Amino acid sequence: MTIDENILLKHLTTFKIGGLARYFCVAKSVADLKEATTFAKKAGVPIFVLGGGSNVLISDEGFHGLVIKMAIQGVKFEDDGNYVRAIVSAGESWDNFVSEAVKKGLWGVENLSGIPGTVGGAPVQNIGAYGVDVSETIESVEIFDTDNLGTRNLSADQCRFRYRDSLFKRPDGKDYIITKVSFRLAKEGKPNIFYKDLNKYFTLPGAPKSSIEEIRKAVLKIRSAKFPPLDKFGTAGSFFKNPIVDNGILEDLKKKFPEIPSFPTDDGLVKLPLAWILDKVCGSRGLKMEHVGLYERQPLVLVNFGEASSHEVLVLADKVAMDVRDKIGIKIEKEVRAIGEDRPPAKYRTGFWTLAYIYLPKITAVIQFFGWHHFRQNYLIGFLKSNKSPEDLMRHLNSKGYSRAHLAWKDKGEVFSVRKIVRHDFQYHIRFFNDYEIRGHYEYTAESHPIGHLCEAVFTDPKDYFDHLLYGYVEK
Ligand code: EPU
Repeated sequence: MTIDENILLKHLTTFKIGGLARYFCVAKSVADLKEATTFAKKAGVPIFVLGGGSNVLISDEGFHGLVIKMAIQGVKFEDDGNYVRAIVSAGESWDNFVSEAVKKGLWGVENLSGIPGTVGGAPVQNIGAYGVDVSETIESVEIFDTDNLGTRNLSADQCRFRYRDSLFKRPDGKDYIITKVSFRLAKEGKPNIFYKDLNKYFTLPGAPKSSIEEIRKAVLKIRSAKFPPLDKFGTAGSFFKNPIVDNGILEDLKKKFPEIPSFPTDDGLVKLPLAWILDKVCGSRGLKMEHVGLYERQPLVLVNFGEASSHEVLVLADKVAMDVRDKIGIKIEKEVRAIGEDRPPAKYRTGFWTLAYIYLPKITAVIQFFGWHHFRQNYLIGFLKSNKSPEDLMRHLNSKGYSRAHLAWKDKGEVFSVRKIVRHDFQYHIRFFNDYEIRGHYEYTAESHPIGHLCEAVFTDPKDYFDHLLYGYVEK
C-alpha cells in the first residue's frame, strides 16, 4: 500500500468540497489498516476514514492527518433458518448491497434503497429512511481497533445506536474503524410502507402490490423526486438532524403552529420534521447564499450549486440554525460530519488549541445559556447597504482574508462572525446581524492573549480601516 501526500479530497465527497489530505492511502485489507495506523502514529497525525464521502463536509483547508479511503471488498450470504446473514465488507457500495439483497428476496433493507455511501458508513450515522433505520437489521459490526491493532466484533447493543447516532460518532468509539457489517435479513418479510410518501405511492389507484422489488422501485422514485441529482449538484443529503423534543415543547409550539407535524419516538419524546419548520415557519425553502442554498424541494438538504467553499456552507448552516432558534427556540444539530473545520494559522495548530477550538465554543455556549453575554459588543460600523446582500458582504470579506471566528461569543441576532489575524497576535473581528447591523473591532486574538482578549485589554474601533474595507457595502 502506498501513502500519498497532498491529495485533493473534494472529488471524493458528494458535497464536492474539501482541500488536501496531508497523507492519503487506500485500504483494501485489515493488513493495510495496520500499516496505515502505524504510519499515522509514527507521524503523530490523526486518522480520518473516508467511505463514500456522502455524509461529510471537508474543510477547504483540508485535513492535516492521514485520510484512509476504505476499500475492503467482499459480500457473503450465510443461511440461518428463516433468516440469511449477510456479511458485507466496509468498502462495498451500500446501494449495490441493497440491490443484491432485494434480488435475492431478502427483507430488511429495501426501504434504504438509493442511499449513497458505503456499507462501513451505514452504522456510523445509523442511516435511515422511509420508516426504517439500518440498526434494525444489524446483528454485529467488526471493528479494527487502532489502539491495539486487532479486530473484534461488537454486538448491535454495543454499537449504541440512536437516531442518526452510534458509538462510532462518540469519543469512546473514536479508535474504531468499521471493517465488516453483519445483517440479519428475513426470507419472509412484511412490507413496511407506513411512511407517508410510501403509503401514498402504494395506495394510489392502479398502484402495484408492495413486493420487495416494488418497494425498492418506489423508494428510488420518491428519492429522485426529492433529492438533488448528485451528477448536477454537490450535497450530503440532510444537513441537520430532525430535532427531538419533549411533549411540553410540542404543546407550546402547537399553540403558535397548530399544523406542526410530529412523530413519537420509542422513548416517549417527539421528532419534529425540520424540513416543515424551515419551509413553513422560517420561510427558508429555496434560500440561497452565494454558491450554497437549501434545496427547493427539500429544505433540509444543503446544496453546493457550483464552486462553494466549506466556509460558505458553514455560514449558511449557522444562519439556518440561528433562524430556527430565533423562531421556535430549538437548537438543531448537524447530521453531516464537518472534518478539519476552518483552520487557524500555523502557530496555533497545537494540541492545546485544537482542543480549545473544539471545547471553548461549547463552554461559551453554556455560559451564554445562563444569561451572560446576551448583548452585542460595541462599535457599530453601520448597516449593510440595501443594494448588497449578506452573501455579497461575506464574499467580499472572504476575499479580504476573513474567515470564520471560532473563539467568539455569539452575539444577539448574529448571522455570521469573521476575523482576520494581523501582526500575529491581533485580529479584526466583524459580526453581521439579522437586522443588517455590522459591528467590528480590533483586539488581541484569544490564542495569543486569552486573558487580554477576554478582558478586552485591547479593544478599539479602527474606524478608518473599516470604512475603507467596507466602502460600498455599508451605510451609516
Ligand atoms: N416538508 C415540508 N416542506 C418540504 C419538505 C418536507 O413541509 O419542502 C415536511 C413534510 O410534512 C414531510 C416532512 O417535512 O412529511 C418530512 O420530510 P421528508 O419525508 O422528506 O423527511 P425528512 O424528515 O425531511 C428524513 C431523513 C432523510 C430520509 C427521509 C425519508 C433525517 C435527518 N432525514 O428526512 O434522510 O431520506 O426522512 O425517510 O432524518 C439523510 O439522512 O441524509 C436523509 C436524506
